[in-house]
Amino acid sequence: MSQRKILVTSALPYANGPLHMGHLVEYIQTDIWVRFQKLSGNLCTYVCADDAHGTAISLHAEKQGITPEESVARINVERIRDFGDFHVAFDNYHSTHSDENRRLSESIYQALNANGHIVNRSIVQAYDPEKQMFLADRYIKGDCPKCGATDQYGDNCEACGATYSPTELKNARSAISGATPVDKESEHVFFKLSDFTDFLKQWTRSGTICDEIANKLAEWLDAGLQDWDISRDAPYFGFEIPGKPGKYFYVWLDAPIGYMAAFDNLCQRRDDLDFAEYWYKDSQCEVHHFIGKDIVNFHCLFWPAMLHGANYRTPTRVNVHGYLTVNGEKMSKSRGTFITARTYLEHLNPEYLRYYYAAKLSSRIDDLDLNTDDFIQRVNADLVGKVVNIASRNAGFIMKRFDSRLSASNSAPELTAEFQNAAVSIASHYESREFGKAMREIMALADKANAWIDEVKPWVLAKEESQAQLLHDVCSTGINLFRLLMIYLKPVLPAMALKAEAFLNIAALTWQDSRSLLSNHTVNTFEPLMTRVEADKVAAMIDASKEVFARMEGKQPQPALSPWLEKEPVADEITFDDFARVDLRIARIVNAELVEGAGKLLRLTLDIGEPEPRNIFAGIKSAYAPEALIGKHTVMVANLAPRKMKFGVSEGMVLAAGPGGKELWILEPHEGAQPGMRVM
Ligand code: MSP
Ligand code: ZN
Repeated sequence: MSQRKILVTSALPYANGPLHMGHLVEYIQTDIWVRFQKLSGNLCTYVCADDAHGTAISLHAEKQGITPEESVARINVERIRDFGDFHVAFDNYHSTHSDENRRLSESIYQALNANGHIVNRSIVQAYDPEKQMFLADRYIKGDCPKCGATDQYGDNCEACGATYSPTELKNARSAISGATPVDKESEHVFFKLSDFTDFLKQWTRSGTICDEIANKLAEWLDAGLQDWDISRDAPYFGFEIPGKPGKYFYVWLDAPIGYMAAFDNLCQRRDDLDFAEYWYKDSQCEVHHFIGKDIVNFHCLFWPAMLHGANYRTPTRVNVHGYLTVNGEKMSKSRGTFITARTYLEHLNPEYLRYYYAAKLSSRIDDLDLNTDDFIQRVNADLVGKVVNIASRNAGFIMKRFDSRLSASNSAPELTAEFQNAAVSIASHYESREFGKAMREIMALADKANAWIDEVKPWVLAKEESQAQLLHDVCSTGINLFRLLMIYLKPVLPAMALKAEAFLNIAALTWQDSRSLLSNHTVNTFEPLMTRVEADKVAAMIDASKEVFARMEGKQPQPALSPWLEKEPVADEITFDDFARVDLRIARIVNAELVEGAGKLLRLTLDIGEPEPRNIFAGIKSAYAPEALIGKHTVMVANLAPRKMKFGVSEGMVLAAGPGGKELWILEPHEGAQPGMRVM
């Protein structure tokens, strides 16, 4: 079969908070599909990016007292680490706030305009006179017009479930400034989606999306499509619309174009990828999007219409998954089931989750549940109890009795052939995103292998010298069966596959390798491939998740001790002399300023009564504006060896306490303590 050229994307996560278990359903699902394609020999390219624009992102930055660019950059660093640690392997991870995306967004808009698909129209909207900005529905709060519940958002009441328009709210006010909103008129730019009704009717029924979704979209298509408002007034973090000063592209206009931009950016570095070949009309390449069910209209109506209207190719397929629940309910911060990617990683092996999700995923859009008991049970039973067990039951004999060498003959040819033939149907399950079916088929094979081992009983053969050849063949066959299972699991368990390849002493496995077997081959020492999920680690992860959000929302945690005291036991005892070696001094902050390019640091100039002031970099920017520090007295470690940092030399350290972020306080002595005084 000829090599397919496939471009794959996952939805671009908003750059306004940490990745969580829900997001990971999507990125793990996509990554498994991509890894399968690559293993099968296709030229498959996986791109993604931060979705950097819009009001939510600029408000998030404002809360931390930093610019949106800085905030996006910080989140980007965390994110790339989280994805990497979960083995989600993008070929490129870009940002929608990029040159490529600006250029493509402008040119697509201009093409749509030139082709007559853009109109301008005045609309009246709620406006915050204090903040001087227009307010989207979710930024208006007030009392419910039906039941009177206070503090309800824009368009629906959490108390009684009523839905309404924000103009019906009693005592309406801006959720941003608290000011009473006023109505204000402004000109907006609209994309005439209805120009594409016929095109979309045909596109949605051409194998691009599953029937379930096509049926839903048909309802909207039959009801008639509205023009889509693609502009927002300043202030807005995004791209200014060409020829429309003060008007910006709505975040959802440039977000999907970010897929193209991320690919374009990669093409600049890769000789084997050509932007035009993938995106121009009549392209023979495939484009696959993976998204959650909440963003179907953007990907299956607006996006194909935009592409079509601007003379680009449209997606081959939009793959839609359902939503994650944890223990049967929506993820909840107070119950500790709103688990961030990082909190998970601090407690558990990422491949447990990759396997669990794979076992639960199908091509349908049903929600899927992460049940913590089922998670422990399933991972332990399948991966440790079935798969790893096959290797460990045989590896010992091969090492101890046969000098780590596999024999040349197979003692279960039929079973082995069945394992090899399964490559076809397992591949078709991966291809059609029926990962749950693939996992069930693989585990059924693992069961057969274990049943066969139970039957031939290598531990009994090992006791009789005359059975040495049979023992050798049996164990070599067992290792070969294990190898075949690892090929089939490799898209899901890349790190475990790597360990298996090291043990088997072979090059990186590909799907093709299922056609061959290892014989007369020397393997390496067997190391445990995966340990069991421990229930107390899962419990600790849930507890930690409760804490993370208690802290984020500035709530006092329930236990009397603050969490950071609980976490950090008092250090080992030291002598008075040890302590006396630390020279603590009262310092006066003469100056404090921002450090260009440093996300967390402030540069402090400290007077400790020496002829020259000290220059210090302190990681307290998240908690203090520089002006607020000037003139304060604090405590510094004065005899700390100078440290060369990226931004200059730091000549000491100031003392501060707190969990971090905004909650960080420098130590402030009472007045009377003068610069240079020793602290004892
Ligand atoms: N920024 C938009 C996507 C723009 S694509 C051009 C967005 N971002 S998001 O961060 O809210 O979501 C990213 C993806 O994660 C979406 O596909 C969304 O459906 C998915 N999920 C977010 N929470 C989820 C669950 N709880 N469960 C499953 N998927 C979830 O939407
Ligand atoms: Zn109500």
